[in-house]
Amino acid sequence: MSIVNAKEIMIEAARGKYAVGAFNITDLIQLEAVVEAAKEKKAPLIIQTSVKPSKFLDRHVLVAIYRTLAEAAPIPICLHLDHCTDVEYCKQCADAGYTNIMIDASKQTFEENIRQSKEVVDYSHSVGNLSVEAELGTVSGVEDQVKVAEDEAALANPAQAAEFVERTGVDIFAPAIGTAHGVYKTKNPKIDFDRLGKINQILNGGGIKTPLVVHGGTGLPEDYIKRLIEMGGAKFNVSTELKHTLIDTTYEYIIANRDEYDPGKIDSAVKDAIRMAVGHWIDMLGSAGKA
Ligand code: 13P
Repeated sequence: MSIVNAKEIMIEAARGKYAVGAFNITDLIQLEAVVEAAKEKKAPLIIQTSVKPSKFLDRHVLVAIYRTLAEAAPIPICLHLDHCTDVEYCKQCADAGYTNIMIDASKQTFEENIRQSKEVVDYSHSVGNLSVEAELGTVSGVEDQVKVAEDEAALANPAQAAEFVERTGVDIFAPAIGTAHGVYKTKNPKIDFDRLGKINQILNGGGIKTPLVVHGGTGLPEDYIKRLIEMGGAKFNVSTELKHTLIDTTYEYIIANRDEYDPGKIDSAVKDAIRMAVGHWIDMLGSAGKA
């Protein structure tokens, strides 16, 4: 049960009215911390890497570590490539053993987004038990190499969403609904809950076929998270919070222990902090005990 694609655990989540946490990692300490937190909470898990960390750490090394950890874990774990704008790199990660691939052609025209997404879907399905995520509309903010200015962001059109999913055959779908990558500038970001509900009704009203993804998890108030899950959100992406946790914890540890030269202690402090942050997310998403 340990190595899974995203779609299978998200269908369970959507049926059970909870969501799977999808946590972006940039190094191996974070990766281990995320896995430990999910094991402690007995929660299904999606580990995500953006393209830069995937290239920096090497996709084959990442997959080998993922497989080693997932095979030994009593919970289902997926390895997801996040926001990849390059069809060829999506295919390379599918070949390497990622179990969910996100092709992000959301900045292209509708037709070009369909063409690229379908190419990645067809290829990935021919490789093995992989699922594919694609996005319609654009999520503002910065995630790795994808940058969208606030005035460029466009919400997903529900009728187009149905056509997009039908024509691409995509497994899981990320509609832009006003959430943003990075830190929200206001305490009450403007999120179009009803749009998510409407898209969910169109795609999954007759039974869950294409579970929905919510991007821009960092900073979303807990009551928003609950409402988004009710509206069909079955995967929540969290990146910025874990980057801040890594850097702030490292900085604070070094300031407090300036004369110490034991990298293992910094790693432990970071791992504990990330574990706590991920555990809190799992509780908010209602996925504890669902593995
Ligand atoms: P945040 O960086 O806002 O948590 O968003 C993460 C995300 O959506 C990654 O795809």
